[in-house]
Amino acid sequence: MNTILLNNITDLRLKIKEWRKEGLTVGLVPTMGALHNGHASLIKKAKETCDKVVVSVFVNPIQFGPNEDYDKYPRTIENDLKLSNEYGADIVFAPTPIEMYGKNTSLSNTELTFVCPPYNLVDCLCGKSRVGHFDGVATVVLKLFNIVTPDYAFFGQKDAQQLFILKKMVKDLNLDLTIVPCPIVRENDGLALSSRNTYLSADERKRALCLSKALKHIEKTYLQGITDTDILFDTAISILDSGVEMEYLEFRNFETFEKVEKVQANTLVAIAAKVGKTRLIDNIIL
Ligand code: PAJ
Repeated sequence: MNTILLNNITDLRLKIKEWRKEGLTVGLVPTMGALHNGHASLIKKAKETCDKVVVSVFVNPIQFGPNEDYDKYPRTIENDLKLSNEYGADIVFAPTPIEMYGKNTSLSNTELTFVCPPYNLVDCLCGKSRVGHFDGVATVVLKLFNIVTPDYAFFGQKDAQQLFILKKMVKDLNLDLTIVPCPIVRENDGLALSSRNTYLSADERKRALCLSKALKHIEKTYLQGITDTDILFDTAISILDSGVEMEYLEFRNFETFEKVEKVQANTLVAIAAKVGKTRLIDNIIL
């Protein structure tokens, strides 16, 4: 095993200082662990782009709502370390919540400094049902950027709203790094890989397929010349399994994040739905 596991910030900073002295470039792949081939594709891309790669594994408490799955979120550090090693990561940084946020701090914005992304970007799509989620994401990612000081950071298109918000944060706060977006990795049948897929029963796993099918159907219909998003919406809805509870299906310009009525190039089609108790998201860019 070449990958080193570090749990504290001081040790990580020392290692990064050594790399910097040698003039090496550093890539960061932030994750919450339970790594799968989607994460692996980010690590692979990071290794191709940078001399050294840090994978962070941290289930970030401040991005989960009170009724969400923070406690039951899968924690599989042994496997995460193995997979990171397989794809050439140099360090897995797996801090505790205390290492990240301190002992006596309440994890709320009454005591902790938060990064607040623009309201228009958080009060839509996933942010509507997950109030405060993107503040928690932006905050932990900025902290990771400050700890690791990467030249490049790698994020999946799977979380398109997160990616958009983080690109905006980098621009607005003049952060000196480049965000590299990476394509969605899917199972052979089309289901987007997600750490939360492990929650699905066999029956739910089958039903979950209708999300990617609906998106594929939209793409096919669009390529046949239909650009009206109301029509595209209706055709997709007819494909959704009756046992799946749709939260949103929206069309947004991926340059501006504004809603679009007619599909143009670079239109994000994003869907979120509950399959049983599991909330899944997926998207495509037309
Ligand atoms: P997590 O859900 O573990 O995802 C880590 C990274 O992997 C994200 O950039 C996500 O978009 C990417 N990813 C997940 N599934 C993917 C797939 N099927 N194909 C390609 N990339 C995929 O996103 C988070 O963690 C957290 O919010 C984090 C950014 C780490 C902040 O806590």
